[in-house]
Amino acid sequence: MHPDVESILFDEQTILNKVLELGNQLTEDYRGKNPLFICILKGATLFMADLVKRVNVPMEMDFMAISSYGASSQSSGVVRILKDLERSIEGRHVVIVEDIVDTGLTLKYLRDALMHRHAASVKIVSLFDKPSGRKVDIAPDYYGFTVPNAFIVGYGLDYAEQYRNLPFVGVLKSDIYATSKTD
Ligand code: XMP
Ligand code: MG
Repeated sequence: MHPDVESILFDEQTILNKVLELGNQLTEDYRGKNPLFICILKGATLFMADLVKRVNVPMEMDFMAISSYGASSQSSGVVRILKDLERSIEGRHVVIVEDIVDTGLTLKYLRDALMHRHAASVKIVSLFDKPSGRKVDIAPDYYGFTVPNAFIVGYGLDYAEQYRNLPFVGVLKSDIYATSKTD
């Protein structure tokens, strides 16, 4: 437990079991396709690391950083590429690895941007889905857990860059972000 966390939603073992299931599914679906897994920094790093160990097909990894929230817990709707891919994705089967889909603004932008680069296919795997936050009509192709309309942290997910190292995922106490106005 952590003093800033109100309740634990998913403990470490529960998360790892789900990641194993997702890995098995992706292994079946991407056999013979040499997919490119794109980790969206920084929230998806822990998920990516655990997931790729469970994907038993030849594959490659790359990383992208985009701005969405700054230090605030509210989506600004502004999406900007801070770090781009190293190589062309033309003709590649791309799997975007995300931590959470909330408003959907980030993923819609990313999926469209990668399709425009002539990928053979673009699919989204997100560990968490928060459907109550949705502002655009998009859904992850694969997801681990549905989460309630609360701000969650841990296992890569942050608030103001903190809590990413927690091995579990929990709801952040609201008084932690109620007082800070950062962007
Ligand atoms: P959108 O709203 O574009 O947001 O779907 C996706 C990104 O927003 C962040 N996000 C969260 N981060 N706890 C977090 O730590 C949350 O509850 C949460 N909801 C959205 C996250 O970085 C995600 O990639
Ligand atoms: Mg974040």
